[in-house]
Amino acid sequence: MNNTKNVVVLASGGGTNLQALIDAEKRGELGSGKITCVIASKADAYALTRAKENGIKTRTLIRKDYSDIASYSKDMRDALLEEKADVIVYAGFMTILDEQVCDEFEGKMVNVHPSLIPSFCGKGYYGLHVHEEVLKKGVKVSGATVHFVTAECDAGPIILQKAVEVLEDDTPETLQRRIMEQAEWKLLPKAVQLLCDGKIEIRNSKTYIK
Ligand code: GAR
Repeated sequence: MNNTKNVVVLASGGGTNLQALIDAEKRGELGSGKITCVIASKADAYALTRAKENGIKTRTLIRKDYSDIASYSKDMRDALLEEKADVIVYAGFMTILDEQVCDEFEGKMVNVHPSLIPSFCGKGYYGLHVHEEVLKKGVKVSGATVHFVTAECDAGPIILQKAVEVLEDDTPETLQRRIMEQAEWKLLPKAVQLLCDGKIEIRNSKTYIK
């Protein structure tokens, strides 16, 4: 019996979180997960180059080619079914897919978000904007969260979180980098490993690690 889990990674940009997943898989730290495909929502996403350099199949599903999220979600659902995705990872994927995808793959999709949810999350909070808002507010601690994806943005059950200090002289860019290094690049591969190995249970919208 083949226990390998097909991990499909969705990305829109630089793909440093994808790189962390690739590196983890090489170190044997993705459990039974194997990254089988990367799907990008933008043609120039550097994540595509990272995938190709590592011999991973790539596909593009360009968000701006679609006038509405329903038709985009339908094609994404079809692509994920074609790829026989067991686990889907949003790694800097900046599109909110609708129920067609979220219901089909319930409990199989995870997202990394660059703050401590429920702070600084939801519509409009993505990428550097999150860190800009954190610095505007003057909070002393931020961090990252890996959570299950549901149709409601950043609202699915939380799997892992890690706090990271905010420094007085931080810019959005320095804070983003520290949160990636200290939190995202560690949490995301760990959560994918746990999910691939069937170690996450969801009860009453909360997760429990077995
Ligand atoms: C990461 O910080 C990720 O947490 C964030 O965008 C960045 C992508 O970087 N994602 C979101 O804001 C999703 N709401 P990457 O392309 O280098 O992985």
